[in-house]
Amino acid sequence: MTPATLTPGLEGVVAAETRLSRVDGQAGELIIAGFPVEELAAHATFEETVYLLWNDRLPSPDELARFRQALAQRRALPPAVLELLAAAAEAQIPAMDALRMAAGALSLDLPSDDSLGGSQEQALEEAMTAVARFPTIVASYARLRQGLAPVPPDPTLSHSANYLAMLQGKPPHPAQVRGLETYLNTVVDHGLNASTFTARVIVSTGSDILSAVTGAIGALKGPLHGGAPGPALDMVFQIGQAERAEPFLRAKLEAGERLMGFGHRVYKVRDPRAEVLAEAAARMFQESGDMALYRLARHVEQTAVRLLAEYKPGRNLQTNVEFYTALLLHGLGLEPDLFTPAFAVGRVAGWTAHCLEQQRQNRIIRPRAVYVGATGRRWEPGERLAG
Ligand code: COA
Repeated sequence: MTPATLTPGLEGVVAAETRLSRVDGQAGELIIAGFPVEELAAHATFEETVYLLWNDRLPSPDELARFRQALAQRRALPPAVLELLAAAAEAQIPAMDALRMAAGALSLDLPSDDSLGGSQEQALEEAMTAVARFPTIVASYARLRQGLAPVPPDPTLSHSANYLAMLQGKPPHPAQVRGLETYLNTVVDHGLNASTFTARVIVSTGSDILSAVTGAIGALKGPLHGGAPGPALDMVFQIGQAERAEPFLRAKLEAGERLMGFGHRVYKVRDPRAEVLAEAAARMFQESGDMALYRLARHVEQTAVRLLAEYKPGRNLQTNVEFYTALLLHGLGLEPDLFTPAFAVGRVAGWTAHCLEQQRQNRIIRPRAVYVGATGRRWEPGERLAG
């Protein structure tokens, strides 16, 4: 047997080949299926990005029209899923847990594995269903827990416009739709991050895509992955005024706390997505005529990066995607605990694309562990009963 090398956190370990995205942490570059993230964020609709990830090329106008329609007609939730969400709202369950519960129940009205033979067709149907229905789950839950009736999806609207319409109960402003679309395109895929890896591990066993995305939601909700934007925004609000930023952040670092929205396993320069989202947030706040929060956030960011360099020299801790996600989503009127679910609404396209890719080149993902426990123990009969 080859001697085992322990790589904590699997840092630097290459576990898959992918055509979906390339993250260059040294150069601060993110390429999504051949396009710099800045290009997709500026030009693509979310439907175009999903098609690109699943097919490794952009659609023709006809293909895009058909694809949009196919997604739109899958948006409505089975009544039992709405009932489940109503029960979750009654119990005031956190939104990510409600999304996980509802995602797991999406197989209710899908053809079973048996009827399609666990085929590529089945996998695509599950992928379409997950991408189409995540916004409906999140928006329905957001309204149910406010005591409001869910807004039924409108198949004539685009994916992003419909999501906002279902959340707000009124037609969204075009600047908001573009802001959300920029966000969804920016977070759609990001190499072998923890939730994507989780999804690939699950399908690598021969399991199905809905199981994979349900597991991925569990991985995404942790504060070290997708759970940071809420706390990042809280921090900006707690700071409140520019002159309080330095003493506030210094106190946190002195206490050994982490600053949410900073640091990244891969990026050692500014996360390129942070810049794209900062620009999108600036445009949206400009449109609304109130730039105060945006200016404060910029100041907090600059102060935090300066202090992180002072307290953690050599670590290159820079702004990550979560910081401006928080600002942008707040500008769209989302409650902080809907930030991570909004991340899932974008990332589910990447998860499903990775699942399809894993299925095409599958080998079960099964690493090893180094045993560091006791050895040589002998079973003493009666010990268990006596204890
Ligand atoms: N604030 C303060 N210190 C930080 C920090 C932060 N945001 N991120 C990392 N550090 C410090 C660690 O304390 C550690 O210091 P030490 O060597 O003195 O103990 C050092 O930097 C390396 O951190 P490490 O946890 O090994 O880095 P990682 O690659 O495992 O972690 C993150 C990456 C994202 C988990 C980490 O930067 C973090 O917790 N950030 C805050 C949460 C966040 O924004 N998450 C969203 C990620 S997109």
